[in-house]
Amino acid sequence: MTRQPMDDPSDSSLSRVDGAAKVTGTATYSAEYAIPGLAHAVLVTSTIAKGSIKDIESREAAAAPGVLAVISHVDAVEVPGWPARKQPAERAPTGTALRVFYDPLIYFDGQPVAMVVAGTREQAVHAASLVRVTYQQEKHQTHFEKNTQKAVVPQNVQRSKSSPFQDYDRGDSAGLNQAHTKIEAEYTIPTQHHQPLEPHAIIAVWEAEDKLTVYDKNQGVKSVQGQLAQAFKIPRENVQVVAKYIGGAFGSGIRVWPHTMAAVMAARHLKRPVKLVLGREQMFTSVGYRPYTVQKISMGAAADGRLLGIVHEGTGQTSMYEEHLERTVLASRALYACPHVATRYRLLPLDVSTPTWMRGPGDATGMFALESAMDELAFALKMDPLELRLKNYAETDPERNLPWSAKSLKACYELGAGKFRWHDRRMEPASVRRNGKLVGVGMASSLYGYHRHPSRARAVLHADGSVTVSSATMDIGPGTGTAMTRIAAKVLGLEAKKVRFELGHSNLPDAPGQNGSSTIPSVGSAVYVTCEALKAKLLALASEMPEGRSMGPMVVREGRVFGSTGGQTGIAFSEILKYHRLDSLEAMEESKSGAERDQYSMYSFGCHFVEVEVDPLTCEVRVTRVVTCADVGAIINPKTARSQSIGGVVGGIGMALMEHSQMDHRFGRYVTTDFASYHIPVHADVPPIEVYYIDKPDPHANPIGSKGLGEIAIVGVASAIANAVFNATGKRIRTLPITPDQLV
Ligand code: MOS
Repeated sequence: MTRQPMDDPSDSSLSRVDGAAKVTGTATYSAEYAIPGLAHAVLVTSTIAKGSIKDIESREAAAAPGVLAVISHVDAVEVPGWPARKQPAERAPTGTALRVFYDPLIYFDGQPVAMVVAGTREQAVHAASLVRVTYQQEKHQTHFEKNTQKAVVPQNVQRSKSSPFQDYDRGDSAGLNQAHTKIEAEYTIPTQHHQPLEPHAIIAVWEAEDKLTVYDKNQGVKSVQGQLAQAFKIPRENVQVVAKYIGGAFGSGIRVWPHTMAAVMAARHLKRPVKLVLGREQMFTSVGYRPYTVQKISMGAAADGRLLGIVHEGTGQTSMYEEHLERTVLASRALYACPHVATRYRLLPLDVSTPTWMRGPGDATGMFALESAMDELAFALKMDPLELRLKNYAETDPERNLPWSAKSLKACYELGAGKFRWHDRRMEPASVRRNGKLVGVGMASSLYGYHRHPSRARAVLHADGSVTVSSATMDIGPGTGTAMTRIAAKVLGLEAKKVRFELGHSNLPDAPGQNGSSTIPSVGSAVYVTCEALKAKLLALASEMPEGRSMGPMVVREGRVFGSTGGQTGIAFSEILKYHRLDSLEAMEESKSGAERDQYSMYSFGCHFVEVEVDPLTCEVRVTRVVTCADVGAIINPKTARSQSIGGVVGGIGMALMEHSQMDHRFGRYVTTDFASYHIPVHADVPPIEVYYIDKPDPHANPIGSKGLGEIAIVGVASAIANAVFNATGKRIRTLPITPDQLV
């Protein structure tokens, strides 16, 4: 790995600052706070996919040992921010988040219909089994393929002319029609669920009628704070949201879900702290998923490989009550220098719960289609797939007609191809065997949008010379605290162990949730400018001291201030505070995007090279080698960056070969609701993964020159694997996951 600008030779990569707490069990996760008087809530969920509740018989449950309350729309808890109930109940218009225990209407299988609260979890589980719900069932539609004719232009898009999901057309379709070589294909991605190891969990505590604290697994404490304040009509500052440790999330924690509301409602009703932990099975119906998506791509090129046209149409599944939109078709507009591009995006509402963002949402889905299609086109042209990408390399953004803020994708291709020894590849499918297995290689490009949101941080220098930096950002796994510690330590010339970073609490300075790979660009920049401001204050104070007056321009190093001419012993930070009779010194700054967003087009880029072995007898696919290379600007902390890239590839292996939420459409119910049936990669499924970065700061994106890394790591991986499977077997699999039955 090359060194990066944030690095200095004396300071190698930081290990996770919270690693020891996590592996020794002292890290406290949402369900683990020991709150006195805690009651336990268990949800009873719908066993039909559409209809309404006729009756809820809860007397037996209410009389069971330890039961404190049975809550449902019949015995409802009022939520002040919700509109009055309609009589008779009416189906919510599109765009209405599901209101739990609000009315008798059922929108999906697994919808919470009642909740039992008891003194222990076991008592609540038992009593929940005694609740009898009867339904008026209506015919449900959950089958994507049988309902494709019901796909619609999303209402959101109809309302907004500036929506990025509007139909898009550039150039003239004549080129595509007259192309020397043309391919057309349909690609399908099934529903997939996030499934972090830690299930979603919440402890809700009302300290007073208008004062709420929640220990909640989520990806944005400030956003949860705002949503709960609004729902319960209390001042924002009266809601505290704590989420210091998260056992993985992948997008499932971006919004407030019905189970969160249910726990807060129960605690309010009982005037007692209530804990609610979703079971693994409930994790398949309660916190969103990657939507079932079908995409069609037509693509044509001249004989020399120059792209003449791309038409990319995508339809994603959504619920009957909300529209979930994602970037499915958008990458096709920006990735290649192609004169004619048309994209269409539609939604298909079904009787299912609302999907949400999951692991490179939209782009991971779209890039499976786009980069599989590029491979198909290269094969039809008898051209090397990498050469086809280079032939159509976009030197400027062809969608916005703007220069890139920075783009080293070409360098990524070269670095990755070299490390992988791509040029040893054989074009002819099924032509390489090793130990009785068919061997194939494939590659794909990767692109992910740049997201940066206004963020604040506070930095406090203490009397002992240590610094605490804080921001209401999150760590759902990537090692946010570690990266922020490194930024602060570097700016302030401190050893990392002298810096403490606090996150995951809503009373900290404003920061966005952890999503869209936005944390380093957003919060990293805030930490940087805040520490610069603290340093400036410190240097100003030092220059007023007797030793400081003669120093001239100053620098910080090892917790001391030095004159840049050298030779002195310097002044320790602690001496500066002491001299000025200060207990501490504080800075707080905000950082956000400016005019550069209109002057440049910003993306993270990358590519993946994959080798697979396919057993000709069992048709089992094993990924045997991966080289992944990313161009995300400056790398802040190589060790945790590398972990993220590895995690992304592992997610891509799951997406390509295993993950598939299967529904029994007779009931509209998922049947793969545990880790025995919903397969995710385990260690034995993951080969050594080589990770490389270009590590060149983006001069325009933000003060630290670093762009998002988390999601670019998965985008494209599934297509690289599918392309390798084609190279190994000659079979083009366009429906994920690539299971043995498809290769027979
Ligand atoms: Mo990510 S899907 O934005 O957590």
